[in-house]
Amino acid sequence: MSEEDPFSHLHDEDYASGFDSGRVGAADMVETGGRRAVSLDGTWKFTPDLYDEGLRQKWYLWTADPPEAWDWPRDYDAEAAFDMQVPSCWNLARPEWMYFEGSGWYARDIFAPPSLHGERTLLRIGAANYEARVFINGSFAGGHRGGSTPFFLDVTPHLRPGANRVLIQVENRRRRDRVPMHHTDWFNYGGLYREVALYVVPPIFIRRFTVSLKPGHTDRIIVSLRLSAPVDTEAEFEIPALGLSIPLTITGGEGRADIAAQPRLWSPEDPALYDVTLRCGADRLSERIGFRDIRADGERLLLNGRPLYLRGLCVHEDDELTGKTTDEADIRRRFEHARAMGANFLRLSHYPHHEMVGRIADEVGVMLWAEVPVYWAIDFTNPDTYADAENQLLELIARDANRASVIAWGVGNENADTDARYRFMSRLAEAARTADPTRLVAAACLINRERFAIEDRLADHLDLIGINEYFGWYEKGFDGLERLLANSRPGKPVVISEVGADALAGHRGRDDELFTEECQAEIFRRQLEVVDRAPYVQGFCPWLLYDYRTERRQTRFQRGWNRKGLIGEDKQTKKLAFDVLAKHYASRRDRNA
Ligand code: GCU
Repeated sequence: MSEEDPFSHLHDEDYASGFDSGRVGAADMVETGGRRAVSLDGTWKFTPDLYDEGLRQKWYLWTADPPEAWDWPRDYDAEAAFDMQVPSCWNLARPEWMYFEGSGWYARDIFAPPSLHGERTLLRIGAANYEARVFINGSFAGGHRGGSTPFFLDVTPHLRPGANRVLIQVENRRRRDRVPMHHTDWFNYGGLYREVALYVVPPIFIRRFTVSLKPGHTDRIIVSLRLSAPVDTEAEFEIPALGLSIPLTITGGEGRADIAAQPRLWSPEDPALYDVTLRCGADRLSERIGFRDIRADGERLLLNGRPLYLRGLCVHEDDELTGKTTDEADIRRRFEHARAMGANFLRLSHYPHHEMVGRIADEVGVMLWAEVPVYWAIDFTNPDTYADAENQLLELIARDANRASVIAWGVGNENADTDARYRFMSRLAEAARTADPTRLVAAACLINRERFAIEDRLADHLDLIGINEYFGWYEKGFDGLERLLANSRPGKPVVISEVGADALAGHRGRDDELFTEECQAEIFRRQLEVVDRAPYVQGFCPWLLYDYRTERRQTRFQRGWNRKGLIGEDKQTKKLAFDVLAKHYASRRDRNA
């Protein structure tokens, strides 16, 4: 509180503006492969803060005194706040917080490892929706915006021996200038919903490290790395199983090598992974890398030079009991269901999913389309919104660059084709291509209604055109689908990136009765008959694996759930349509082995 006027905070509406400059982003990402994490998961003390009193009153400056020592009437009392599990979504912690959209304050003490030889202590937050600000011992340590990507803060300067009081403010309001903006078809969870940890790294450490096949080659490997400082030094790169031990010269903190090698190629049929290590000075990284080449060739997709058909499924990151918070068992179940259907591809809608998804997909042999939530309407004319979108994309690419399973970066979903959208998304598509020339750039586009064709000027910047279409559900009949596919000459590979219909599990009836399982199954039967005849369609990606929470759907069949899942929200009850797709994928697999 200011001494002269104890009420000044009541009239300050610029209370948050001082923190924007301290935001970290993609340039601050750090490789974690093989590093030891000091987990900060567990019980934190949580205080809901709907009106941002915490920033207004500067709660982070208050010391943790017992009430008998308080010398003014406080409004924040971390020690007596609610227990909150990290990671978790605050919406599911208490019934009254289900629809809470505002700020929440997390508090706990951490005991930092001593820095004996100039080591740095990095705080990594796996994801916080939507904006986070970190305070340590009363000082602002930095912040981040974007609800689905990790961020790193070098907290070394803020730490002292013994207990360090950490406060993290997370704010999840839906806003027009955010990515996504305030209108989506999924639930707006809030909080520190992925893991939080400390990493201790040497004074100069390996910040970025990528290993992949040289694009268009299957007998050359490109290794590139960047250190945390622009120094000249040496590094050692090894792939023991290939007998590779390569010295790398580092100049100005950067190093790169183009190496002849004959790795067994990664594919869904043979998800071969290699243990890889990189040493530089006192730092050491290890990764498991799959080597594969993915390319568009005319209207075909080629994986390691062979034609590829994507037997796909869309998935959200949602759970009836844990919301957006997931774990290895939940992810592995997703892959088991996908493989049971015969899928070889998942579209991770509509935001970056947990980093475990890429690691497990590498292992089990499922290809992934990862995307950023440039979803529906976005404030396309706002430069700061573009900066937020590009940062989320570059953070996603930095985090998952070494995942062979990721074959495409999706830069958006169902965005109306305006000039502002074209400028925004073509720039984003080029940013993806510049950051990572080894993968496809994709987007889920809308069809050109005037010409009733698969046409979107954004396609000039894409390698893979996604088309979301719901003929049989949102659009009556399938003649339109026939006409659309016959009308189109995309000249590039197309994937049906969404298609489906709602059905309440267990609701049975006629196959033309909306929301019945029979109706959903019949729509997929008809869809597959038509889509299968289009030569340029190289993939089919039903919307979606599981029913999921979305506040905007409230019929008696929905009650706040999107019912297009092929399995119910219990992640067990399969609907009739599941077997329709499984049968189709089995026949496709035989044809395209
Ligand atoms: C759209 C959108 C999805 C949405 C789906 C639906 O295609 O991309 O996010 O959930 O339609 O209507 O169920």
